[in-house]
Amino acid sequence: MAVALITGANRGIGLALVKAFAGRRDKVFACVRASSDREALDAFAASTPHWVQVIEMDVSDPAQIGRARRKLEAEPIDVLVNNAGIGGPDRQSATDMDFEGLEETFRVNSMAPLRVALAFLPNVKAAKGRIITLSSQMGATGASADNLAYRVSKQAVNRLMRGLATELKPHGIPVLIVNPGWVKTEMGGEGAQLTTDESAANLVKLIDKLDIGSTGQFLAWNGKELAW
Ligand SMILES: NC(=O)c1ccc[n+]([C@@H]2O[C@H](COP(=O)([O-])OP(=O)(O)OC[C@H]3O[C@@H](n4cnc5c(N)ncnc54)[C@H](OP(=O)(O)O)[C@@H]3O)[C@@H](O)[C@H]2O)c1
Repeated sequence: MAVALITGANRGIGLALVKAFAGRRDKVFACVRASSDREALDAFAASTPHWVQVIEMDVSDPAQIGRARRKLEAEPIDVLVNNAGIGGPDRQSATDMDFEGLEETFRVNSMAPLRVALAFLPNVKAAKGRIITLSSQMGATGASADNLAYRVSKQAVNRLMRGLATELKPHGIPVLIVNPGWVKTEMGGEGAQLTTDESAANLVKLIDKLDIGSTGQFLAWNGKELAW
């Protein structure tokens, strides 16, 4: 049995990851915001004989991250998944940018994954665990001008995680950056290619295979390495 901590666990890919880990009897700390609609998560937690504990944590709030960490102080964590993310503001092209929205996108998509990883690093070290951050193909290189806040926030998190991978390599803690594919969620939309369950199953396979030799890689859901 492994122990997983997943952010943004009440819907979308996060909820599917909770189900995938709990389904194979891993223990899951499912992190949500106080304001999150958690009906589906609560129903799953109540229906599963396996172990799911819901933890309140807005990843953009350092005080809440600190509170969650204190609550879980004694828990070794094998798999920490930075899944929570936002698509960014309505106006996010280079010539029409909502700067407050850009800042918020950096806070949630770029800074929060590093903050969460550092806060729970003692737990991950205690389990000789691993750290996974969901990024996006839109964080890869290119000249597209649409969804710019989202694109740069994912490029930034890729770079932060690659730095973290370098620093944690001597400690034997692998760090992986993954693009979950185009997934049918509120963010991905109905026209997307993969269901949340398909994406989560692929991610779990990648997470299981992850070792220190592949730390710092940016992989697609199918295991293909992505350039950025
Ligand atoms: N869907 C795709 O096609 C796709 C493609 C590439 C990458 N991704 C990445 O995959 C991850 C999951 O995406 P998704 O499609 O499942 O998105 P989603 O359905 O929109 O779900 C986003 C999740 O993040 C949570 N969240 C947002 N801000 C938060 C905060 N400040 N603190 C804590 N939780 C917060 C949301 O909670 P609330 O319910 O409280 O808002 C929700 O649980 C994201 O990082 C996204 O960038 C998705």
